[in-house]
Amino acid sequence: MQDTRDGAVLSSAGESNFAPPHRTRGVFNHNSFERMISYDPATIAHPQLHGILLSGVAPRPIAFVASRSTEGAVNLAPFSFFNAFASKPPVVAIGPAVSVRSGKVKDTWRNILDTGECTISAVTYGILHQMNLAAAEYPHGTDEFVKAGLTKAEAATVGVPYVAESPFAMECRLIENIELFREEGGNGNLMLLRVHRIHVKESVLTDGKIDPRKMDLVARMGYHWYARVTPDVCFELPQPGPKCGIGLDALPEPIRSSPILTGNELGLLASVLSMPQRDPTFAQPQTTADLLEHELITGNARGALDAALRQGSPSVWTLHRIAQAFLRQGDVASAWQTLYLAHPTIAP
Ligand SMILES: Cc1cc2nc3c(=O)[nH]c(=O)nc-3n(C[C@H](O)[C@H](O)[C@H](O)COP(=O)(O)O)c2cc1C
Repeated sequence: MQDTRDGAVLSSAGESNFAPPHRTRGVFNHNSFERMISYDPATIAHPQLHGILLSGVAPRPIAFVASRSTEGAVNLAPFSFFNAFASKPPVVAIGPAVSVRSGKVKDTWRNILDTGECTISAVTYGILHQMNLAAAEYPHGTDEFVKAGLTKAEAATVGVPYVAESPFAMECRLIENIELFREEGGNGNLMLLRVHRIHVKESVLTDGKIDPRKMDLVARMGYHWYARVTPDVCFELPQPGPKCGIGLDALPEPIRSSPILTGNELGLLASVLSMPQRDPTFAQPQTTADLLEHELITGNARGALDAALRQGSPSVWTLHRIAQAFLRQGDVASAWQTLYLAHPTIAP
């Protein structure tokens, strides 16, 4: 461990049981051996802490919260301290802060405490700049629906409109407001809200279910960064539930210590419920491919295997690369069979 400026401490990350240094792959390779900078929240300046915290707790959904003052003025503001915490009954929470500099509270917070009601609309890319406009500190009583040029849709169970341009909106009532460490100068609030009605635009449904590829949601990251959820970044990954994969620790050593396969790829291999049986027919060629590197580059795993077998006695690492190509196609069964060709004695 080594102290740096601002109370941050440099350390190396925890030892992993298996991971060789190259074990992850992404746009950026974050490896288990990289040095970490550690911060003690009690000793760093609040603005710096805010940026660091919210860069790691990201991406965050954005609640476009509409509320009404006791005088009847409608208010609209975005909050990314926001999430769902239960679905039966549905409970969400937002975190309107108190200004550290002036002690000023948000109109949203005051209004929800006073009336007990609000609506929350999802923020899409199509209303991003209108959302940003509504985040400005307009004088108390300003209707940000008007300032942002957004349409009021009438709610069914609360006296506050929601944003008609949004594909998803909830009508909420306050359960409880928890002031967070106010006695220590803390500036947070946690407003727990029960959802009494949900509205969804039909246009975002596929086969009756909300399709994330049709929502076009935006999320808040750290500092001034946002993320847009476009169809190309969406993918499905079913939860394992009660079915337990064998786990990385149960992978045979020659696979676990592969210099080719990444942690993610080992994770896929290790999610089988038991190691598959060897298929003696797997090594019979299915294609006429004979250019190994070409097939690997074009992501044709089966072609690569056939080419390698045609060339005769492929090396262990060539077979690991071909197994990797199968895994990238999501074909876990063929990856296992390829690894059995590399290590015939490990097959059950
Ligand atoms: C994307 C986004 C997310 C925000 N999230 C929060 C938040 O979680 N908590 C907070 O206190 N302010 C947050 N703000 C700032 C408020 O929206 C801003 O202070 C606004 O003026 C509050 O309006 P009000 O006083 O009408 O409630 C956020 C601003 C933006 C642009």
